Amino acid sequence: MIILGIETSCDETAICLIEAKENSIKILGNQIYSQIALHTQYGGVYPMMAKREHAKNLVPLLEKCLEESGTIEYGISNIKSNKNLHSKLEIINSILIREEGLFEPFIKLAEKIEAGTWTENIDAIAVTNGPGLEPALWVGVSFAKALSELLNIPVVPTNHMEGHIVVAGLQHHDESKVESLPAQAGHKVIKSDTNNKIETITYNLKPTNYPAIALLISGGHTQLVLIEDNLKYKVVGNTKDDAIGEAYDKVARILGLPYPGGPQISKLAEKERQDFPNKIPPFPLPRPMIHSHDLNFSFSGIKTAVLYLTKDILEKHPEFNGQIPENIKQEIACEFENAVVEVIVKKTKDAIEQYGAQTIIIGGGVSANKKIRNDFKLLAQDFNIEFLVPEVDASTDNAFMIALAGYMNILAGQKSEKDFKAIGNLSL
Ligand code: KG4
Ligand code: ZN
Repeated sequence: MIILGIETSCDETAICLIEAKENSIKILGNQIYSQIALHTQYGGVYPMMAKREHAKNLVPLLEKCLEESGTIEYGISNIKSNKNLHSKLEIINSILIREEGLFEPFIKLAEKIEAGTWTENIDAIAVTNGPGLEPALWVGVSFAKALSELLNIPVVPTNHMEGHIVVAGLQHHDESKVESLPAQAGHKVIKSDTNNKIETITYNLKPTNYPAIALLISGGHTQLVLIEDNLKYKVVGNTKDDAIGEAYDKVARILGLPYPGGPQISKLAEKERQDFPNKIPPFPLPRPMIHSHDLNFSFSGIKTAVLYLTKDILEKHPEFNGQIPENIKQEIACEFENAVVEVIVKKTKDAIEQYGAQTIIIGGGVSANKKIRNDFKLLAQDFNIEFLVPEVDASTDNAFMIALAGYMNILAGQKSEKDFKAIGNLSL
């Protein structure tokens, strides 16, 4: 089965084409356009700006993805001579009417597609319909519906968080030979003596031992999810305020580091641990809700604690001229990371004990974090249970995970839908 995945929930525009046969998943084409550089200038993601960028980038990305996969040979035609497309113009227009700037490029590509030939047909489209920024989600949803109309293929709405979970269950056929290439899940640099060649590889979908506990940690979510069986989710813990990734990003901003802050904080923390392995933290921070006897989280207090701490330091040291020195930034970043990681590890441990979990899964952008990956691996070892984590480059948002979640749901019986909506706060 060939599935096209589309992802526009936040600040990545992504399209991926996979070929799936039972448990074997091959990536045919995988394209991501990150808006990070744009959003960095403003210190965060603005939904309407993200929406415009998605509208601008979807068509070129789809074209690149199809070219990369070699599943199409484009033809050149004139729209008037193309009967099939002509009869669909009205309906495609009505689908894309709210997505400014998308209709014209869509039709241009549609002409080329219709005049060309498919070497392998796409069986279904999977598109993220939530959770995320609603205006951004709508662009992807409308685009997917228009494509479904144009190509006469089914479309299934897909949950972004489910994508983050299922992509953790993949294993490469031969891990020893490959090392990952940043930002493009599924494309591997195959090590060889003469040159580094990029090849498309095949993954294996591993059977999971249930019940599993998934910890989802991203810019918008911090959730503990009980998975009792394949694709059966129950959220058992949640953040009461900020998500952990949001806390990383806000603390980074307080320390004057660029967006997205997670990797920046993580880098500083890593350096502090290396430079001073046994140092007692000079600025201890709270471990929010660590003793709350439930599975919920809160990360807004620790961000405020960092804010007051930095104000205090600057007041006491006028010679710093309003700039926290690098060595103190490093100390704060390390203590912040230690604090939040201690909390998520403790809550996940509680959830494993409470539900007798046989597997720990971590997913979402923050699971790219080195310390987190390491500490959860140790946690799984302590319990002697399985540990599933996405490859680093598949941890942050991508369309591969959406195509995969779509495939798994289609196998489980999900049917094509026509009238689904983008839902900003969609839950699992
Ligand atoms: O899943 P994701 O790509 O987008 C959302 O769905 O939110 O997650 C993005 C979040 C951002 O807050 C970013 O700072 C964080 O993931 N992040 C990290 C790391 N890489 C990305 N946080 C900590 N350490 C990292 N290495
Ligand atoms: Zn995400």
